[in-house]
Amino acid sequence: MKKRILSVALAAVMALSLALTGCGSGDPGDGGEKQGGNGKLVGVAMPTQSSERWIKDGRNMKARLEELGYEVFLQYAEDDVQVQLAQIETMIAKDVDCLVVAAVDSSALINALQTAKEEGIPVISYDRLLMNTDAVSYYASFDNEGVGRKIGEYIEEKAGLADAKEPRTIEFFMGSPDDNNAVLLYKGVMSVLQKYLDDGTLVCKSGRTSFDDTCILRWSQEVALQNCENYLSGFYADEKLDICCSAFDGFAYGIKAALEAAGYTEEDWPIITGQDAEVMAVKNIIEGKQTATIFKNTELLAQKCTGMVDAVIEGSEPEVNDTETYDNGKMVVPSYLCEPLSLDKDNYRELVIDSGYYKEEEIQNAK
Ligand code: BGC
Repeated sequence: MKKRILSVALAAVMALSLALTGCGSGDPGDGGEKQGGNGKLVGVAMPTQSSERWIKDGRNMKARLEELGYEVFLQYAEDDVQVQLAQIETMIAKDVDCLVVAAVDSSALINALQTAKEEGIPVISYDRLLMNTDAVSYYASFDNEGVGRKIGEYIEEKAGLADAKEPRTIEFFMGSPDDNNAVLLYKGVMSVLQKYLDDGTLVCKSGRTSFDDTCILRWSQEVALQNCENYLSGFYADEKLDICCSAFDGFAYGIKAALEAAGYTEEDWPIITGQDAEVMAVKNIIEGKQTATIFKNTELLAQKCTGMVDAVIEGSEPEVNDTETYDNGKMVVPSYLCEPLSLDKDNYRELVIDSGYYKEEEIQNAK
């Protein structure tokens, strides 16, 4: 018992020191001190290292800002809201010159962001919109409804829905309810697929088609796997599942595992979508275990976001291409939106190999 109390206490102390010292960044080089370069410090708060895209985002932001002479204090919160809050408070206490935030929970940082505003620290929302605050200067992201629309259009075309002779079965795996991107993605998907659900071309046997019924907290791969297992055993004993409308590559990995366990083979493998074009997803697409994903060029995103940081610190106007769409409940945030692209077996080479985004070996060696 004593041992347990001791280990719980130890874990608590470790968690606190991780949150306060920033060891959670997974990058020992992040000193977070203003020294060298142009003497300016930028705090970059990223949500998690559990998926490849955010590791790449953090790496890109750090490298680009350092090229411009900034010191970078990069932190990952491992999907823990309180840890991210503590990290941002630490960044404010260190008197960063600008904060870049990709939130774990888009509405959970309101008070800390208010403090940043009062202290004159500009805040840039990275990829995920910071909600219900007027402390955000700019937003760098993708056309998030466009991501959903592209997923819907891909399914529409691949499954031949416009002139289908027979109904096709479909299940939905949508993103985290505390992420504005997930809500927009769902809207985009349904702008294409709702009419096929209404006229019976698409049949969702679980009946779960609303965002509330299909969203998965913190984009959990494990929950996607469990949901898929439950759908397969509960509703698809006699008839096969034809389409898995998944909002994230991580979900597609969970779905793949559930399908394999249920005995699905190459012959009856469903259409499975995703998002992020992670190396593992591209490998699965080449091997026929995932059908498509959405390629979001995060190098371009980091380039646009770095431009915003530099502009707010130097007092110039950053590049934006949308001043209407992203209303966070308190203000319309001026944004730069990059274009998402559908990727499948037919165009992956052109999009990610020929462009130099990935090396062929990275994909072959993906695990
Ligand atoms: C991002 C997606 C990502 C998801 C899960 C979203 O906010 O826009 O690219 O797949 O988070 O990490």
